[in-house]
Amino acid sequence: MTGNGEEAIRRRSLPEPVTAVTDTAGAWLPARMSEVESGLLKAVEGEGELTEDAVRTLNAGGKRMRPMLVLLCAGPEAGDAAVRAGIAVELVHMASLVHDDVLDRAPLRRGLPTVYASSGRERATALGDRLFSTAFRVLVEGGDADAVTQVSTTAVDLARGELRQREGAFNMNLTESDYFERCGLKTGRLFEAACILGRTSTGGEPGPIGLFGHRIGLAFQLLDDVLDIAGPPERTGKARGTDLLDGTVTLPLIIATDFDPALAALDLRDMNEESAALACDRIEATGALDEVRSRAIALIEEAKAGLIGAGIETEQRELLELIADGVVHRYS
Ligand code: FPP
Ligand code: MG
Repeated sequence: MTGNGEEAIRRRSLPEPVTAVTDTAGAWLPARMSEVESGLLKAVEGEGELTEDAVRTLNAGGKRMRPMLVLLCAGPEAGDAAVRAGIAVELVHMASLVHDDVLDRAPLRRGLPTVYASSGRERATALGDRLFSTAFRVLVEGGDADAVTQVSTTAVDLARGELRQREGAFNMNLTESDYFERCGLKTGRLFEAACILGRTSTGGEPGPIGLFGHRIGLAFQLLDDVLDIAGPPERTGKARGTDLLDGTVTLPLIIATDFDPALAALDLRDMNEESAALACDRIEATGALDEVRSRAIALIEEAKAGLIGAGIETEQRELLELIADGVVHRYS
């Protein structure tokens, strides 16, 4: 464990589901997480004028769920390849959020002004590009071509998912299957890659581990879409109703229109903060948020059930179950 990493871990206050996993695992997990943390800092430091924005983004309070999944899927034998993969997936994740905030013109993330809001569109676009490129440098330095391919194909899927979202914007006829396909690409895929990279970093066969990651990634996105409507911003660290303001049709809205047909007539092109807040209240009143939460919980249960009999050590499986449960308890 490096001094830098320990300090970085102390500085960031991690939410309970994450600390529950680190407390339960042996000393190997916090030690490797600390290496991921110092590796992230090292990766973004000393490369000119974007370093300040990059370090601020890094310290903005991310949960580091993806690197933790990499390490948990690698298990106690996690080594340098798993740490590199953890750094790379977190950098791709951060890059995608910085770009997403540009596309969404989002004011807040993790309770802080987004890079887009504080430094402007050009700088945020350049920062996202830089974080994204750095992920590949970290992997290439480890010399694992398969890992590079895995992260590259994953990044392509993220971009495809984002494109689907833009193509489906304002479309009140979007189906549940369109929604799940998009979420699988934009969110499920990176969770899946994190699990596969971890497992293969120690020479294991991926088996059903990718599907485990995909399912918890989907559950994560479902709950993210609930939080966008339920808020409150003090708890989620993001503005409420951003999806509606952006024309993004999510599962809560799709389900709510079945209960309240007047919602189907909503014109997403004509939304302002006030009408978006009213629409959020109306969606919540239909009970759609509870339905989406139940579906997320069902996905978590399916993910956990898929690990049984998959040749994963009991202790490792229990930690994966713990992090899967942690997805349900998220507020940011
Ligand atoms: C956040 O979800 C955004 C994503 C999961 C993916 C965004 C992907 C891109 C911008 C394209 C690919 C970019 C790279 C660098 C590969 P959300 O918008 O549903 O959640 P939010 O409420 O946190 O904004
Ligand atoms: Mg967004």
